[in-house]
Amino acid sequence: MDALTTLQSRVSSSLLENPGPTPQQIDEMIKAGSRAPDHAGLRPWRFILIEGDSRLRFGELLARSNTPENAEPDPAIIENAMRKAQRAPTIMVVVASITEHPKVPEIEQIICAGAVASNIITAAFTLGIGAYWRTGAAAFSPIVKQGLGLEENEQIVAFIYMGTPRVSLRTPPSITPSDYITRW
Ligand SMILES: Cc1cc2nc3c(=O)[nH]c(=O)nc-3n(C[C@H](O)[C@H](O)[C@H](O)COP(=O)(O)O)c2cc1C
Repeated sequence: MDALTTLQSRVSSSLLENPGPTPQQIDEMIKAGSRAPDHAGLRPWRFILIEGDSRLRFGELLARSNTPENAEPDPAIIENAMRKAQRAPTIMVVVASITEHPKVPEIEQIICAGAVASNIITAAFTLGIGAYWRTGAAAFSPIVKQGLGLEENEQIVAFIYMGTPRVSLRTPPSITPSDYITRW
């Protein structure tokens, strides 16, 4: 598939199963991610991989983030969090690591990390790996951020769930570009 066709036909896969991406495929995706435009070449991003049994620890973290402080998580909350944590073999957390820069404000560094995540899901699609970008309350939860080892200057931009698509991919909706263009 040529690059333009890939970009125009990419779709997410929410139903994912084993196997997840290989370490080599993850490297390829990160190389593709790293080619996202990056003002001043700061590389304001890093990745955390959650695979195998680590997903259970991630589920515990999600459950804790949905539970009031000093209370024990409710069994229904634990079950829901465990299900979410295990809905794909691999979860790649894309983190924006923001530094002070005279010409590159925080928002540009977060946009850059978002562009990296976008390149990664497109690279996954090219490799035949299903991917789904999620955030939700967990991405902004101090408990999740601390549990995953984020520093004060870091933000979660994406949880990219990855694996083998369980069902055939849908055809993306078409778009009429002129609906979105004004000429000034
Ligand atoms: C920053 C960001 C956060 C997102 N968070 C969620 C999410 O938490 N849950 C969800 O169902 N979709 C989320 N999405 C949307 C999906 O990843 C996906 O793009 C959408 O369902 C459309 O499907 P498609 O990519 O196949 O067109 C998010 C997308 C972006 C860019």
